[in-house]
Amino acid sequence: MPIITNIDDLKRLHKRRAPKMFFDYAESGSWTEQTFRENTSDFDKIRFRQRVAVDMTNRTTKGSLLGTDYEMPVALAPVGLTGMQNADGEIKAARAAEKFGVPYCLSTMSICSIEDIRQNTSAPFWFQLYVMRDEDFVDNIIQRAKNAGCSALVITVDLQILGQRHKDLKNGLTAPPKLTPKTLLNLSTKWSWGLEMLGTHRRTFRNIVGHAKSVENMSSLHSWTAEQFDPALNWETIAKLKENWGGKVIIKGILDPEDAKEAVKAGADAIIVSNHGGRQLDGALSSIRMLPKIVEAVGGQIEIHLDSGIRSGQDVLKALAMGADGVMIGRAYIYGLGAMGEKGVTTALDIIQKELDTTMALCGKRNISDIDRDILLVPEDFEGRWT
Ligand SMILES: Cc1cc2nc3c(=O)[nH]c(=O)nc-3n(C[C@H](O)[C@H](O)[C@H](O)COP(=O)(O)O)c2cc1C
Repeated sequence: MPIITNIDDLKRLHKRRAPKMFFDYAESGSWTEQTFRENTSDFDKIRFRQRVAVDMTNRTTKGSLLGTDYEMPVALAPVGLTGMQNADGEIKAARAAEKFGVPYCLSTMSICSIEDIRQNTSAPFWFQLYVMRDEDFVDNIIQRAKNAGCSALVITVDLQILGQRHKDLKNGLTAPPKLTPKTLLNLSTKWSWGLEMLGTHRRTFRNIVGHAKSVENMSSLHSWTAEQFDPALNWETIAKLKENWGGKVIIKGILDPEDAKEAVKAGADAIIVSNHGGRQLDGALSSIRMLPKIVEAVGGQIEIHLDSGIRSGQDVLKALAMGADGVMIGRAYIYGLGAMGEKGVTTALDIIQKELDTTMALCGKRNISDIDRDILLVPEDFEGRWT
């Protein structure tokens, strides 16, 4: 077993262990992947101010999100098909999150269902909703999330239509994989993945199959999802969903100050500044670049979380210092899961916490609540002049 010291090590192992179509599904952005690349490279442009001779004893990374205290203000983002990266992946990720003390968010497009997570964990988790045309399905899944005691509904608003990721088309992505000569050849090199997958019955979209009209098996599911994401989604629908849910609502996929203001009007408790990890609008600016303007527009009115591009505890600290109240990580924990299952997710969280803690200390800070813009050196033209 190689010595794992950073998130990139987990990514290399994930690539080796998971079938190509699923690793590629995670490791891709839409079209040219410009936004996907800039999500990470823009973090690199921000630097830290080293401070010395500050008492660094009694440090903590603890922070709160939506009124609940966590080990650090970092949540696991909703990621579709997580249970294809590693058998029962959503259950493993949710367990790792619970043991570590951070929130887990389950995707609508997960392999394990809301009920699977409820039965296999005890901490409340967040549920991410894709708004579908089938209103009965939406009402029903909201009720299922309520029954499972989910503590927040995360409504994703940046995927009314699907961004094109070339690799998924070229690989013929399906869950479970269709056994073509090409995939069989690749699967023949992924024994441990295959054996674990044979050991579980959770191999399809269990939030959907059996719950949506006319989706009883995989073949009908594909046409259903292509037809079902609701292109008519608007702020009125979102306000109604908030009413129907009756609890905390987080709006995910905000990248513009005007939309952030709309989210406040619609009654959101928090927003996630996000471009879906560069998987939707290629050519959009990175989340970290857009963050300051969004903080200026709605900061103090609701919580502002950020995702897209976070690969280290240093990135977490940069986002917090730029004004985010919390962050979500997507690929950073998926690499861990694909590499080593639950243990890999825990390793990813450990790495991020250690990097966050050490960097905080070397910047002269002991508490998350003390983090501010002052610890950073940001290029004057970081946000850019766009007209
Ligand atoms: C493989 C993959 C699948 C995703 N599936 C979903 C999803 O089902 N629902 C959702 O709201 N976001 C989804 N996202 C976006 C993530 O929630 C998150 O916004 C993104 O991963 C953050 O960027 P990062 O991966 O650079 O951390 C997905 C992202 C990835 C990489």
